[in-house]
Amino acid sequence: MSSDEQPTSAAPGAASEPSAPPAGPAPSAAVPARDVRFTLDGSEVAVADDGITLLEALRGRLGVTSAKDGCSPQGQCGCCTVIVDGTARVACVTPLRRVDGRSVVTFDGLDEAVRARWTQSFVDHGASQCGFCTPGIVVRLEALRARSVDHAGERREGEVERALAAHLCRCTGWQSIEEAAAEVLAGVGPEDGTAVAVPAPRDLDAAGRRATLELGAPQRVGVDVAAGAVGFSGDTAPVGSLVAVPGPDGGWVVGDDVVAARRAAGKVQGRRTTVEPVPPLDVPDGEWDLTLRTSWVDAAYVETDASWCEPGGEPSSAAANGGAFGGKRHSPVPAAARALADEHGRAVLALWSREDCTRAAPKRPPIAAGIRADGTGRVHVVRTEGVAERIAAVAPGLEVVEVDVPGPPTSVVLRAAGWAEAVVLVAGVGAASDVVAVEPGAVDGRGDGERVVVRTSDGAVAEASVDVTGDRVDGIAVRVLAGEILDEVVLRSYCLGAAHMALSWVTSEGLAVDADGTVLDLTVRSLGVLRAADMPPVDVDVLPGPGPAVAVSDAVFAAVAAATWRALGTPRDWPAG
Ligand code: FES
Ligand code: FES
Repeated sequence: MSSDEQPTSAAPGAASEPSAPPAGPAPSAAVPARDVRFTLDGSEVAVADDGITLLEALRGRLGVTSAKDGCSPQGQCGCCTVIVDGTARVACVTPLRRVDGRSVVTFDGLDEAVRARWTQSFVDHGASQCGFCTPGIVVRLEALRARSVDHAGERREGEVERALAAHLCRCTGWQSIEEAAAEVLAGVGPEDGTAVAVPAPRDLDAAGRRATLELGAPQRVGVDVAAGAVGFSGDTAPVGSLVAVPGPDGGWVVGDDVVAARRAAGKVQGRRTTVEPVPPLDVPDGEWDLTLRTSWVDAAYVETDASWCEPGGEPSSAAANGGAFGGKRHSPVPAAARALADEHGRAVLALWSREDCTRAAPKRPPIAAGIRADGTGRVHVVRTEGVAERIAAVAPGLEVVEVDVPGPPTSVVLRAAGWAEAVVLVAGVGAASDVVAVEPGAVDGRGDGERVVVRTSDGAVAEASVDVTGDRVDGIAVRVLAGEILDEVVLRSYCLGAAHMALSWVTSEGLAVDADGTVLDLTVRSLGVLRAADMPPVDVDVLPGPGPAVAVSDAVFAAVAAATWRALGTPRDWPAG
């Protein structure tokens, strides 16, 4: 490509106008390049540095796909973590020139036996679901383990939680990751010869079926998942693919690689606003026993939308392993990849950044509701196709009024959207419906002598009790009945993840959106997902059968949200933290 060629813009999901002059990808060089030499996983490499980051060098120039890009260059998700001279670093905020003459070790460069020990432990504990976050977490935990080996096995209080503070895992709820870490860090590793506990044999196909059922999208279970090697579109685009990113005018900008495309698009790193998220709707007028207002909530999946396509081909899935909690079900990115590939006559990888996801991916529709003790009331909800039916399915006594409010797109495809809000409202006043009830008798001794019981239409049951001290949740107990268990590790993992997502929703998640509807919070941390250190212990009791396997994690999500709200004294506005 010649350096005077211009970037191409096209409407998302469509090729540029046929009458537009032919245009090629944008140039990548912005700064005179010089070679940076360093050791990568034990081998000497040299990369021309034109102002790129270490992550851009690893992924774009050196073909290292185990270092993931979940938020670059925000430096907040930890997916790109590598070890530089023995210390864990996030590669997306490390200028390439900073590693000149140094040693860089990626997930791929870890000792094979050590790497296998970590990935197996993650599988054994259900600590990796989509797998996108896992290689970065393993790299940081391995740096921690190696430091400990260097210091005669010295362990430090809270070291795992502190290490995980640099990471975002949306799927697992952290507890299973902490369990996997504890097992490996306890010294059951190849270096000290300690015997490794042999887990009970598992049917990983059955485990995958349970995972697929819980998320409603194909999901595998195994060490390749824990290695982040499940065919994410950003990792599998053919060598030489063009890269397309959203441009400032709402179209797509195409470059030779991610660096070129983002530079040509004028990508600006997103920021977190100091403006607090404010629920956008007013509670309906009326005499209510309880009211609730919620905000826009992001799905916060960590793998941003990506898809590649060959000319005339089928685009790759934007969700290679799992369903992003419904958030990618209608992603426009695969259609864009197909149109752009046809337009350019070359394979194209279409890619959203974290900022693109935060602005354009669907959110939970905010509500403002008033409800009486008998379960009747009124809900104002941001206009969203299908939401009235979702609410009516749980709470037929609630009148639903859809309201047009400027803001990001909303959808009921996100985890139990509308349905869970209705569960929360009915349980909040202690009413009951075919779906939800508040019953005496806490699960596992937690909670104030009560549990929220949620039943799905296909027979799954989730019960939740929550312990609170002051305004802090310090324990959650969940009991589930979901037909044939298929794999208890995976079922428990999805219950842990759903409990984390529920607690996070009630206490911490919400987007600041201005009066014009512009999303102000653009960083992955500003989405409000609870960190490992913020999670109380979650006990999960899985009861067997009867009947075929049915999904239960949406019911767990709703039950824990309702039990948390009640335990916190039903604060009017969420996030309540
Ligand atoms: S991609 Fe580097 S921290 Fe998120
Ligand atoms: S397994 Fe951590 S983000 Fe999916």
